Amino acid sequence: MPEPFAKSDFGPHFVWGISTASFQTEGAHDKDGKGHSIWDVFSTQKGAIANNHTAKIACDFYHKYQEDIRLLKAMNIPHFRFSLSWSRILPQGTGKINKRGVSFYNKVIDCCLQHGITPWVTLYHWDLPHTLQLKGGWTNREILEWFGQYAEVCATLFGDRVKHWMVMNEPMVFTGAGYFLGVHAPGKKGMRHFLPAVHHAQLCQAIGGRILRNSVAGASIGTTYSCSFIEPKNTSKRHKKAALRVDALLNRMFLEPVLGLGYPIEDLPVLNRLQPYIQPTDMRDSCFDFDFIGIQNYTREIVRHSCLVPYVGARLIPAPQRGVATTLMDWEVFPPSIYEMIKKYNGYKNIPRILITENGSAFPDKVQQGRVEDAARTAYLQDHLAQVLRAKQEGLSVHGYFVWTFTDNFEWAEGYHPRFGLVHVDFDTQKRIIKRSGQWYASFLGQ
Ligand code: BGC
Repeated sequence: MPEPFAKSDFGPHFVWGISTASFQTEGAHDKDGKGHSIWDVFSTQKGAIANNHTAKIACDFYHKYQEDIRLLKAMNIPHFRFSLSWSRILPQGTGKINKRGVSFYNKVIDCCLQHGITPWVTLYHWDLPHTLQLKGGWTNREILEWFGQYAEVCATLFGDRVKHWMVMNEPMVFTGAGYFLGVHAPGKKGMRHFLPAVHHAQLCQAIGGRILRNSVAGASIGTTYSCSFIEPKNTSKRHKKAALRVDALLNRMFLEPVLGLGYPIEDLPVLNRLQPYIQPTDMRDSCFDFDFIGIQNYTREIVRHSCLVPYVGARLIPAPQRGVATTLMDWEVFPPSIYEMIKKYNGYKNIPRILITENGSAFPDKVQQGRVEDAARTAYLQDHLAQVLRAKQEGLSVHGYFVWTFTDNFEWAEGYHPRFGLVHVDFDTQKRIIKRSGQWYASFLGQ
C-alpha cells in the first residue's frame, strides 16, 4: 500500500537523517590507544548484559566506516548523526589527546563530507571514560571541568567541518538507568548517586552548549531528550497526579532548567532533595539558548498511582499487561505519542527549533533468501512520520527526523538481540543487508 504522504509534504528544508552512537557501533574497544569507557567495563561484567554480549567488536564501524558511509549514500540519507567516544579522544578523560582516536573521527567526518553527507555530532552518548568513573563520574562535581575540557577539545578539533552539534544524548536515561537503577553503566543504584549525577549532567548541558557556541563559528547547537507521552490509567485524581509526577521526571526535569524554569519541583516534590548539590549560581548557569532541541520518542506510558514505589509514588503499567501491540523491547507501538510530544515541547517558549533526533523500533527480523522483510518496521516508521506530518501541518515546530538506527547494533543491556537497524548485520561475518524498511526509507528519500 502506498504511504499517504510524500517527502515533499514535509517541505524542502526538512532535515532527513539517521542516528547512531559510538559505543553501540564502533567496536575496536582497545584499538589505537583508546581508553576504557564505563560501558567497556560494565558490559564485560558477568550477567550485566543479556547473553553476556559485549561490544568489543559491535558493528566494527571503526574499520568499516567507509563501506558504511557509502551505504548511507546509496540509501539517499543526507544527514548522519553519530557520537564521539570521549575515551577514544582523551583516554584518561582529561589531559593528553590520543592522536589516533582523533584521526579516526577526522576520517569519518571527511568521508561524510566527501559523499555529501552532513555530520551531526553528539558529544556524549553515555560512554564516560572509566578513569573518570573511578573518581565518581557524574556524581563528582569536578565533571563540570572534565566535560568542559572534552567539549573544548572536540570543538577545536572538529568544529572547522562539523556545524551541527548535540551536547548530550538523553541525560534522563543515562542518569536514571546508570546511577539510580544500576541496569546501565556504571551500575550505580540509589538517590545518593542519582541526584548529584542529575544536577551535574544538567549543568554540563549548558557548559557544553556555551563552549561549542564560543569555539565553533556558525554552529547549530542542540541537545537531545528522551520523551514519552504519559497518560494516567484512568481519570481518577490519584492516577492523574501520579502521571504528572512521571511526566515531570521523564519529560521535563532536564529541559526546564535549561529554559530558565528551574527543576519541576512543584509537580515532583522529591526533586527538593537536589538542593544540597545546587550552588548559588547554578540555576543561572544551567540556562542556555540552544538553537534546537532534539526529541527522541519510541512509545507512550500509562501510569498508575502506587504507594509501593518510593520517590515518585507511581508505576508504569507494562505494555504487555495492557494487551496492546508492542515491539521486541515490550514497548507499546503508539504513533500519536510522537505528535503529542512535538506539541508538548512546542508549548515552551524559547525553543527555536525542534527535531526528532531518534525514532525507531526493534522487531524479530529474519534473513530469508538473503532478504529481510520487516514490514512491521516499515509500518512503524510510516505511521510515526504521518504523525510528524500532522504536527507540521498544524503549524507546530518540527524541522527534521532521524531514524534510530542505521545498522543493527549493541542495544545496551539487551545486547544484540533487539535489532533496530534499517540495515541487518550478521555479527559473525559483519555482512550488511539493507532490510525492506531500509529500501523503503531510501526510495522515500530518493523522491
Ligand atoms: C538511545 C539509543 C538506544 C535506543 C533504543 C535511545 O534511548 O539513545 O542509544 O539504542 O534508544 O533503546
